[in-house]
Amino acid sequence: EKSGYDHYMLKEIHEQPRALRQTISGRIDTDDGTADIDVDLPSEYVDSIEEIQIVACGTSNYAGRYAAELLESIVDVRATVEVASEYEFDGGRDPWRTLVVAVTQSGETADTLSAIRRAKRAGARTLAVTNTLGSTVVRETDDSVFIRAGPEIGVAATKTFASQVATLTLLAVRIGRARGSLSYGRARELLESVRRLPNAVQGVLDREDRVREVAREYADSDAFFFVGRKLGHPVALEGALKLKEISYDHAEGFPAGELKHGPLALVTEETPVLALLTDGSRPDETLNNVKEVEARGAPVIGATTADGDGRATDSAYLDVELPVPATGALEPLVANVYWQLFAYHVADEKGRPIDRPRNLAKSVTVE
Ligand code: F6R
Repeated sequence: EKSGYDHYMLKEIHEQPRALRQTISGRIDTDDGTADIDVDLPSEYVDSIEEIQIVACGTSNYAGRYAAELLESIVDVRATVEVASEYEFDGGRDPWRTLVVAVTQSGETADTLSAIRRAKRAGARTLAVTNTLGSTVVRETDDSVFIRAGPEIGVAATKTFASQVATLTLLAVRIGRARGSLSYGRARELLESVRRLPNAVQGVLDREDRVREVAREYADSDAFFFVGRKLGHPVALEGALKLKEISYDHAEGFPAGELKHGPLALVTEETPVLALLTDGSRPDETLNNVKEVEARGAPVIGATTADGDGRATDSAYLDVELPVPATGALEPLVANVYWQLFAYHVADEKGRPIDRPRNLAKSVTVE
């Protein structure tokens, strides 16, 4: 059932184009410039939303951060994201006008379920974004949207992250269009980016050999730092989480601008810095931070856009170029696939039990 791959994780990384096609199938309404998501959000309700609170754990939390960043930039609504185990509902005078969105692949994560119960008790409207039909979160929320990524067996979440972000992007478009704050033109652009995702991700997968080479070269480093700004920040966090989960190496993600406020003290020739230098992640500003770490001898592994102006080519130690015509706000999501492959090949080089990392479970059903 691993279809010739050594691990489920690698199989699932490679399944992303297909998973994404399923995720978006029938959901893009180009004529009206909106997303057709089967969800019960009447336009009067959408108009009345004051705040969207996303609650989720781990990788799903990072997908939520991506979505919150996107929502705030395209919809006139406050969007926050919280780690579910830290969540307290604070909904103001009319709690129903807060939409609480639980993002959970399994639909069974205890921390996320308990956050949703808290929100419901307080009177908020709840929505689940999940991969699992019939899961507890589906039963306990007012409505659900399915990410349709197909079953994920590897403990490390990969294809479901991509499908979560794609689904949440469609949801953001739907909400923005219903509120009238997202223009037809901008919505069309975003929908076009979503439509291009599967091929763009395939383009990254086609460059796996190069990523494997880089991963092998740096596998024995002391630690790994992932940096990115804006939409690149959740991707940096996700890249670091993936690597630590399966390789057991020390890895951390930062907004690129934070390096100089502390972490720089740890930067040496033995600490590669993996930098997101794509659209949607303020590449030029990040490049300045990259230069600071290079000056301290750290190898820089940059994910850049192939049709960009070659911004990183002369200064970064290494580019892993995105082979796509721009996918705009979704470029960081496409670049994330590089970090997935990097994590996989570092862990594989070390002979780690990639599909069953120590101490971790696919679904965490205790608080
Ligand atoms: C990371 C990972 C975990 C899960 C987290 C939430 O690779 O798999 O961080 O993302 O436990 O799980 P779900 O999405 O099922 O709620």
